[in-house]
Amino acid sequence: MTKNKWESWTPERTQTFQATFIAWYEKEKRNLPWRVNQDPYRIWISEIMLQQTRVDTVIDYYYRFMDWFPTIQDLAEAPDEKLLKAWEGLGYYSRARNLKVAAQQIVADFGGQMPETIEEIRELKGIGPYTAGAIGSIAFELPEPAIDGNVMRVVSRLFEIADDIAKASSRKVFDEAMRAIIDKERPGDFNQAMMDLGSAVCTPTSPKCEVCPISAYCSSYEQGTMISYPVKTKKQKPKDVYYIGTIIEDNQKEFLLDQRGESGLLANMWLFPIQEVNKKEFEQLKAEWSGEEQQLSLSLDQEQELLVAEDGAGPLESYEHVVWQKRNLGEVTHIFSHLKWHILVFYGRSTSLMTLKENQRWVSADRFADLVFPKPQQKMVALFEKGQQ
Ligand code: ADE
Repeated sequence: MTKNKWESWTPERTQTFQATFIAWYEKEKRNLPWRVNQDPYRIWISEIMLQQTRVDTVIDYYYRFMDWFPTIQDLAEAPDEKLLKAWEGLGYYSRARNLKVAAQQIVADFGGQMPETIEEIRELKGIGPYTAGAIGSIAFELPEPAIDGNVMRVVSRLFEIADDIAKASSRKVFDEAMRAIIDKERPGDFNQAMMDLGSAVCTPTSPKCEVCPISAYCSSYEQGTMISYPVKTKKQKPKDVYYIGTIIEDNQKEFLLDQRGESGLLANMWLFPIQEVNKKEFEQLKAEWSGEEQQLSLSLDQEQELLVAEDGAGPLESYEHVVWQKRNLGEVTHIFSHLKWHILVFYGRSTSLMTLKENQRWVSADRFADLVFPKPQQKMVALFEKGQQ
């Protein structure tokens, strides 16, 4: 069997590689708010936020989160609404919910202090091998790799590793390679150097090898094969799901909102009512309701008359006491990791005669900021506001 490339590195080569790489990091490292000290709580929160979100986006959220929940204890006791508010717009909300559960674990099992071994860190809710490695190495100097997509790209090029990074089974190859080269004196800096190199230099489509501090050690640079790495099978296309979204306003300028159930996607968040339809119904409604706009500056009496006349004639049969505007406002799309939502948005007026379901409320627009709105809802609000101009 052929040897893996990292196995043929001599100790001297490994050492000069580490020294060169760490020197580059010290010179080039980004000034980031979670890099001001080695407080494990600060590092943990940053790593969770950074899991699916870009550094530039995270920074403002990070400052606010630390302001609202300065200690693990505060996070353990955080009201759910406030916690979700702190996360609003970041997406993947289970991350926020898991943070609170983990904070409660830390209070209950570790006296409120972040545990200091990799095994104990791994026991915390929402912490997988990447995050445990990042916290362990950055906060506690444990010689553990922190392998995310960026790091796999760097390492796959460094050693021309052709294992498919989309496969869980490839993880052990990258883990072995990283353990062979990580600087055991400064694992936190080494891991962060990898992250910075991956995001600024060793980028996916046009790596800047001319400024790379470790190009002299890089197999794919030597062979000119950078673009062939990493090997990655295509992700499944997200599944299309179709909804009718209904923005319903009463005569006190309040809007009907639905709170979602306690589990599943967007749990507990607020949206204008949406109802799933199939693709054919979606297309039909889109065609059928693309006509003239109805005049809506009606007096209350006129509205009442219309309501009697038009009940049940809306885009969805299930609503009573709503007068619909005779066109749809447009379409909102939003991609979650595995789903693509298409929402065809309608606007209607009601006179508060509607019987509300248990999870529904009338809310005036100036109170929207108090509720947690997921991205598709924010997009529906924006679409509505655009239509008002
Ligand atoms: N991405 C994930 N973790 C990071 C960190 N600690 N610094 C910069 N980028 C990151």
